[in-house]
Amino acid sequence: MRGPAFKIRGDARTTGLPAHGTSAVVFQPRSISAAHDTTLDVLPRAISPKEFLHYQALIYKEAGIWLSEAKTALLTGRLSRRLRTLGLDNFSQYYERVITDDEERQTMVDAITTNETHFFREPAHFRFLEQQVMPFWQASAESGRRSRTIRVWSAGCATGQEAYSLAMMLVDRFPPEQGWSIEILATDISCRALAIAEKGMWDLAKAREIPPHYLRSYMLKGYGQNQGKIKAGPAIRVVRFMHLNLNEAQYPALGHFDLIFCRNVLIYFDLEGRKRVIGRLLKYLAPGAYLFVGHAESLNSIYPSLRCVIPTVYSLGEKPERS
Ligand SMILES: C[S@@+](CC[C@H](N)C(=O)[O-])C[C@H]1O[C@@H](n2cnc3c(N)ncnc32)[C@H](O)[C@@H]1O
Repeated sequence: MRGPAFKIRGDARTTGLPAHGTSAVVFQPRSISAAHDTTLDVLPRAISPKEFLHYQALIYKEAGIWLSEAKTALLTGRLSRRLRTLGLDNFSQYYERVITDDEERQTMVDAITTNETHFFREPAHFRFLEQQVMPFWQASAESGRRSRTIRVWSAGCATGQEAYSLAMMLVDRFPPEQGWSIEILATDISCRALAIAEKGMWDLAKAREIPPHYLRSYMLKGYGQNQGKIKAGPAIRVVRFMHLNLNEAQYPALGHFDLIFCRNVLIYFDLEGRKRVIGRLLKYLAPGAYLFVGHAESLNSIYPSLRCVIPTVYSLGEKPERS
């Protein structure tokens, strides 16, 4: 039976959630973190140094993620559960499985990637957008110097909070009623993370990361079987999701973007891997566009030709004037 799984209750005011919006989507609640929970009743299996080197090379080739020997416990912790599920005795047996089975290799990648993210993570980036970039776009559109279409790519989007933070901010400032069109592409290598992102549904506790105005206007609160959840409302369903491995030598034709966010992804890559990914991403920047990386991922030394607009935000073109 279908029925509204999300709507705003009388107690919405106390939680800061909106006083409108319903959704007919029903979902079966399940633990979204179980697949990633290494604290379950699984003792990590032992891995030999030789086995570790095999995994290190495979994961590097597959995803560009470089696991130093210091990450041995992380690797065994995250894969032991899978070995047990498959009834395998050791990491050599699992290795044989993953090199011949594409689906299992994806499951391994899902387990190895770290998908931690937050709404409005790194507030300085959002302040920069709000105070400098968005007024410039507004003025440019009003004077006919730019179109009213804004295209954004969240590369390494994890469970979607980054893409939806951008959706809230952009739709709010550039509403469709004023002729604006917001297109957000969100990609990740992890199918498990993408499945969560695509649902656009998170634990209610995440609501505290969202500024109250956006929360009220764009998020729905679950009730009944969806108690304890929030969900992206229809106005911000401008995000399209796609599986994309940034370590691939070529990416599909995606067009050009005004903003590319690739934050807290390349920290897992080695220097050469980072350079390769950044080089590919730059080809997708529209004139005057910006590339955002994580706070620990400065590109100053690896791409000196890029213009650093504010720390960890880069441009190939002109800096927008302050308005
Ligand atoms: C720590 S999360 C960062 C999420 C978000 N960008 C943020 O800053 O909050 C890193 C994400 O990068 C993804 N990732 C790692 N290697 C990748 C690759 N080769 N291609 C695409 N995504 C990758 C992971 O699956 C994970 O979801």
